[in-house]
Amino acid sequence: MSPFLITRILPEDATDAALRADVLEGLTGTPKTLPPKWFYDAHGSELFERITALPEYYPTRAEREILLARAPEIAAATGAHTLVELGSGSSDKTRHLLDAMPDLRAYVPVDVSGSALRQAGEALAAERPGLLVHALIADFTRELTLPDTPGPRLVAFLGGTIGNLLPAERAVFLASVRALLAPGDALLLGTDLVKDPSVLVAAYDDAAGVTAAFNKNVLSVLVRELGADVDPGAFEHVARWDAGREWIEMRLRARTAQTVKIPALGLAVDFAAGEELRTEVSAKFRRGGVRAELAAADLRLRHWWTDREARFALSLSVAG
Ligand code: SAH
Ligand code: AVI
Repeated sequence: MSPFLITRILPEDATDAALRADVLEGLTGTPKTLPPKWFYDAHGSELFERITALPEYYPTRAEREILLARAPEIAAATGAHTLVELGSGSSDKTRHLLDAMPDLRAYVPVDVSGSALRQAGEALAAERPGLLVHALIADFTRELTLPDTPGPRLVAFLGGTIGNLLPAERAVFLASVRALLAPGDALLLGTDLVKDPSVLVAAYDDAAGVTAAFNKNVLSVLVRELGADVDPGAFEHVARWDAGREWIEMRLRARTAQTVKIPALGLAVDFAAGEELRTEVSAKFRRGGVRAELAAADLRLRHWWTDREARFALSLSVAG
């Protein structure tokens, strides 16, 4: 059994303050929005895991295919002794990387979901003697201080989660990742690729309704955390492809005119019948765009790997 440490970077009340600030800003803006990071309470994290197994949701399988094929190459190219993973969730696909990295000394999963980190971290520490697992409960869009573990470091950001950030947020995020990298470190980035809109929309509007439940779960978080007076069933799930911006947008559409009261914020928010609240964007990428966004953050693309059907890409980049 290896050591398992878990550190909360933000105190509980900071998470609460951040939720209040996000909800106040998002529900009083036009159009109404909520940031996707609030999907991931324990139930939301479980729903996301169910999404990854859906027949329509190809990104997890496509990225797994690439990791299985390329993990030894990634391990050889980076020679990493520490793997830092942002938005690690269940760390399930990460196991393919860990299997290919016998010299790895430390794994540092970073996530806002304490439940996902605890479950994944404890299991990995139990299974992998000699590997220090130091989990960080943290928001990867805020300044990150990493534990002092041996370099070189590989920072992995898998699943296409970078697509859940807006373009301006991605630029700030990539610059902050760049600032974490010392010479010899590398970034492994998963990006979902532009493809037929019917395939994309199906991936975000599955027949079993799991993505709809995941989307509505953000309202359950507002009920529990802020005492919001809102019925998730009074909203319907919407997934739409925005061809101009090349992203999927998930929204919640009010079935009827209603007022959502959030006493904790002294807020009463009116929704017209049919009005939509944006809960997530999921941007889809092309190679040139990824290269350009990396370059703008002083990161140089070294490798680009896709699955056989070119649905998803993993890229490896280094500073400068
Ligand atoms: N990497 C995994 C999980 C992807 S789901 C995979 O590829 O399957 C996205 C993960 O990012 C969730 O576990 C969620 O809790 C986490 N997350 C979302 N926004 C975050 C943020 N701002 N800071 C830290 N973690 C975040
Ligand atoms: C975590 N992230 C990359 C997922 C995505 O595909 O954008 C979240 C998700 N939303 C709906 N389904 C899955």
